[in-house]
Amino acid sequence: MIDVADVKKSYRSGERTVEALRGVTCTIPKGRFAFIVGPSGSGKSTLLYLMGALDRPTSGQITVSGTDLTAMTEAEQNVYRRDHIGFIFQAFNLISNLSAVENVLIPYLPRGITPELQARAVELLTQVGLGGRVDHRPYQLSGGEQQRVAIARALIKNPEVVLADEPTGELDSKSGDEIYRILRRLQAERQTTLVVVTHDRRFITPSDLVLEIQDGLLKVHESEREHNLSEAQV
Ligand SMILES: Nc1ncnc2c1ncn2[C@@H]1O[C@H](COP(=O)(O)OP(=O)(O)O)[C@@H](O)[C@H]1O
Ligand SMILES: [Mg+2]
Repeated sequence: MIDVADVKKSYRSGERTVEALRGVTCTIPKGRFAFIVGPSGSGKSTLLYLMGALDRPTSGQITVSGTDLTAMTEAEQNVYRRDHIGFIFQAFNLISNLSAVENVLIPYLPRGITPELQARAVELLTQVGLGGRVDHRPYQLSGGEQQRVAIARALIKNPEVVLADEPTGELDSKSGDEIYRILRRLQAERQTTLVVVTHDRRFITPSDLVLEIQDGLLKVHESEREHNLSEAQV
């Protein structure tokens, strides 16, 4: 479960201070498929990166499965991220002179690759439909295939949380459909908590949790307000 409590984040840029998040409170239950939606510049990526301990809030608290990310030192955050969070970025972020399977193994390169890990990486690539492409370099793969390598890389550590920032933003709609099919299947199989930033609402289904953000604040929907009210009256 991801718990965000009154999180504010401001950035200093020269003389100006940008208030990217102005007090966000939300809970994403374990195993949910959640979306963060909203206009460009509204704070979506900022919120996602804070959930992944890539940065820390100016104030407020974020806990993931009971672990307080905001109480960690930077070194602790690095280890936490490495072991617990899978990231998928819009631009795939693969290393161009490594093969697909080597890219999947990136999180383990500093610690050494065992035959078990090697086999797991190949298995994950097979699961995302790239079993026949394990030795291809990124330039030999389409955009959709590169993003599938990035999904396998995010999953190799079996993270309880996977965070994706506009994962289909650079893909044509057919490849985008394929990416969501894979994400949904893997999420259902592994009970991963999956948080996806997008401005494409086409991929949202009625059972998903939708966090709508605008100007650094969450918009509360009518139905939720009524729900919160009726809960408060119990
Ligand atoms: N590292 C940064 N330094 C300064 N300003 C930033 C930085 N990151 C984001 N911002 C600003 O914070 C606001 C929210 O950005 P972001 O979270 O990236 O929005 P979104 O992902 O919804 O497009 C924007 O005004 C953006 O310019
Ligand atoms: Mg963004």
